[in-house]
Amino acid sequence: MTDAALSLRPASPYAHEVERRRTFAIISHPDAGKTTLTEKLLMFGGAIQLAGQVKAKGERRRTRSDWMAIERERGISVVTSVMTFEYRNCVFNLLDTPGHEDFSEDTYRTLTAVDSAVMVIDAAKGIEERTKKLFEVCRLRDIPIVTFVNKMDRESRDPFEILDEIEQTLALDVAPLTWPIGGGRDFAGTFELKSGRIRLVDGGDDFAGEGLGALKGLVSEHRLATVTEELELAQGALKAFDLTSFREGHLTPVLFGSALRNFGVRDLLDALADLAPAPQGLDSDKRPVEPDEPRMTAFVFKVQANMDPNHRDRIAFVRICSGKLTRGMKVKQTRTQKMIGVHAPQFFFAQDRALAEEAYAGDVVGIPNHGALRIGDTLTEGEDISFLGVPSFAPEILRRVRLEDAMKAKKLKSALQELAEEGVVQVFRPLDGSPALVGVVGALQLDVLTGRLLAEYGLEVGFEQSQYSIARWVTAPTKQALDEFVAANRSGLAEDLDGDPVLLAGSAFQMSRAKDRWEKIEFTDVKDVR
Ligand code: G4P
Repeated sequence: MTDAALSLRPASPYAHEVERRRTFAIISHPDAGKTTLTEKLLMFGGAIQLAGQVKAKGERRRTRSDWMAIERERGISVVTSVMTFEYRNCVFNLLDTPGHEDFSEDTYRTLTAVDSAVMVIDAAKGIEERTKKLFEVCRLRDIPIVTFVNKMDRESRDPFEILDEIEQTLALDVAPLTWPIGGGRDFAGTFELKSGRIRLVDGGDDFAGEGLGALKGLVSEHRLATVTEELELAQGALKAFDLTSFREGHLTPVLFGSALRNFGVRDLLDALADLAPAPQGLDSDKRPVEPDEPRMTAFVFKVQANMDPNHRDRIAFVRICSGKLTRGMKVKQTRTQKMIGVHAPQFFFAQDRALAEEAYAGDVVGIPNHGALRIGDTLTEGEDISFLGVPSFAPEILRRVRLEDAMKAKKLKSALQELAEEGVVQVFRPLDGSPALVGVVGALQLDVLTGRLLAEYGLEVGFEQSQYSIARWVTAPTKQALDEFVAANRSGLAEDLDGDPVLLAGSAFQMSRAKDRWEKIEFTDVKDVR
């Protein structure tokens, strides 16, 4: 929004609440330190007392849900969740992204709900494959990124080399906010470039002084000379931080630290509080929606079942886009035009949930429901709009589900429907009436499906190759053109969860032949769920 537009609008009663929200995710390669950093961030926010609670290390959390056993076996996190905490009068909503690439779809959806991201890099390894992929997803929406170079307390690469790699590999300008004093066993602390303040690893939260002179007597002469030289070089050769460039996603501020030693974490939180954007306006199909508008709008970016087996509930994770959500409010689900009572919206903390009495733009609340809410749904106070851009991706793997007990076909059908609504798998029902196919982006999703069908529905299944390997959504400029295409291709067509047509093909050759023959038809591998 322009300044002129701002001044024309009456001051919003919610502007202050919006301004202090920071909704972000952490992107990293497995093992870079995301979990450790999350723990430390939550500690600063007072959300947890003891580090070590976030990762499912204790048995209690591990047994919370049967299908989390997969997570345990594979040693990865397959559950996306949100954690809310306060620091310096800011409300932080940290959205957890699953670490495994098989869940890129889930991750993508989560990233549609954040305003910024923290990229954690292992100082010894630099930009790793998974980080790069996640970064590319962020770039699609130009999400501003703060970089945290972690594990400085271990043998690490030269800081120039790390910065250069970020710049080269990601085509992203870098501007260090802090500079490391030594590395590995000699990692003594950091120098804040703007203020010249020095923070020492063993110095607690206080600054040790201003200017490199403050280091005299604290580090060796040799170390001091090296840092002085590095800083001269850095200040001459590297870009200074530029807020606009950062907010536009072209430049990343960089901080050095050690999550394990709890060093640099406060600097990171300060950077998020000071520099990261508050919730931004969002496009809907009819008009842009500004976060401080008085009317509540929101969208569902994730649906998760059975977070707690004692409740067997289904939680829709909803990002508020404008206005204020209050407990007990009635909201309109614009896809179905139904009014839904929001009786028990929840905030999530490290281990706990609490009823959300009110929530503002940027907040993420969980809404328990029995399957009415779906990914991509827009909720409003009555206005008929839909937010854009919570996509579905064409599956890379298509399989038929083989049921051990054929008598349970009906149960399987409804189980698949429910799991598809949660976004665990996609389900395609062929128009010729043959059994449904499941589609996944990554093979691990099939394991999750098997595990959940057994644990939650008592269904034993296996998977069979299908004659199809490619699925593409089909759209046409007119209904007539679409009907013609459907009539001529019934045998290779299926419907997705929403009843939208999908062309199934056995090979790339077959798909490209269809494209050649049906020029007016568009075949897409991404569908915006509305
Ligand atoms: P992830 O969620 O990104 O996969 O990483 P996680 O935090 O689990 O960290 C991976 C490993 O790296 C852990 O060690 C963790 O203790 C260590 N680590 C994280 N941050 C730092 C750091 O700043 N410095 C050092 N030296 N190590 C760090 P682990 O031995 O695999 O697990 P654990 O038994 O210690 O939990």
